[in-house]
Amino acid sequence: MHHFQYHGKELYCEEVPLKKLAEEAGTPCYVYSNATLTRHFDVFEEAFADLPHLICFAVKANSNLAILRLFAKRGGGADIVSGGELFRARTAGIPANKIVYSGIGKTASEMKQALQSGILLFNVESEEELITLNRVAKELGRKAPIAIRVNPEIDPKTHPYIATGLKKSKFGVSLPTSLLLYQKSRSLPFLEIKGVSTHIGSQITQVGPFVEALKKVSKLVKNLRHQGFKIDTLDLGGGLGIPYANEKPPLPEEYGKAMKKELGGLGGTILLEPGRVIVGNSGVLLTKVLYRKKQGPKDFVIVDAGMNDLIRPSLYGSHHEIWPVSRKGGAKKKMDVVGPVCESGDFLAQERPLPAVTPGEYLSVMSAGAYGFVMSSNYNSRPRAAEVLVHGNDFFIIRQREEYKDLLRGEHVPRFLR
Ligand code: LLP
Repeated sequence: MHHFQYHGKELYCEEVPLKKLAEEAGTPCYVYSNATLTRHFDVFEEAFADLPHLICFAVKANSNLAILRLFAKRGGGADIVSGGELFRARTAGIPANKIVYSGIGKTASEMKQALQSGILLFNVESEEELITLNRVAKELGRKAPIAIRVNPEIDPKTHPYIATGLKKSKFGVSLPTSLLLYQKSRSLPFLEIKGVSTHIGSQITQVGPFVEALKKVSKLVKNLRHQGFKIDTLDLGGGLGIPYANEKPPLPEEYGKAMKKELGGLGGTILLEPGRVIVGNSGVLLTKVLYRKKQGPKDFVIVDAGMNDLIRPSLYGSHHEIWPVSRKGGAKKKMDVVGPVCESGDFLAQERPLPAVTPGEYLSVMSAGAYGFVMSSNYNSRPRAAEVLVHGNDFFIIRQREEYKDLLRGEHVPRFLR
């Protein structure tokens, strides 16, 4: 459930009419609902309430400082994949001992920053990373808390770009290799083995793959404990899907139930790394219709947001619902909603039945709260969009729209060209 609803003909975010917001904040602009973010976080939290657990929000899904702060205030931790995300999470007030660090390419300097802040856990994804982390920890005279990220080789039945637990994925290590790495880490004195971690993919719309993965991982945990390893943390990753169109993903409650059932009496602390399920349907991208154009068999609606603002449709062929901010009746026609970027792949929707729209009116691209702004770029020298947080009948700019001078930040013309 989210708080983007029509009241009469006007689309609102909570108690704010989006038309008014678009006029004041300008477009393109990302709009997030505080009530929806809070509700989604709390529902996920409740799904695991009766287990020792920690929700480490996947910062990559939406890394705006205000949004991270919102989760920090609700007791959330963070799942990070870079030094930059560590910096954001810490700046937002997420305590270091609630931060887990995933990713296959942590540099020595990023490891150092994370060790110095005192993070909860490193999810290690290769033997060479294990050795590097031990060396960096030794240099600092500290122990690095680790889990090995295992790849359970499960097909999560999602888009191939976001399936991470397949045999051919670059992520994690196979179950047999993980056993070797746990053995190896015994000889690396600056590592402290804490747990096991896994993450099989994103936008997963069935519980089956999660259960299958957990079955394999539980077996590994038991095996490791049998060998004398102290495994007290189990990181189940993220990946629970959301309805973009007609998908019917399990609710967090259902997912939680299935996980708890499979966990049985395994014990330890469960870490969860949800991203999309919390922020996805909590945000929209507002855009203005610039022009309409007929070309051959096609009807185009040209809007002021492009693939640089929201790349998911172009990159993955993802579906985002498009709602007119001022609802109208009348027959719907199939249209391509395209942006101003000079690429044929620049579209927000193709062959989408929409009512007649006119220049100057606003459209709301739904379910854009996850992997929206964070994946945006300055391609075509387009300043990145503003981000706005709605709170009841009020709204706050949580990221200013970039200006032209921001486009040039850090660029220099060398002396010989002056
Ligand atoms: N943990 C790890 C280790 C991850 O790699 C990811 C996402 C998550 C947690 C959070 O997954 P979520 O709960 O959000 O599904 N850009 C793509 C999604 C990439 C996901 C990458 N990893 C998209 O727009 O669909």
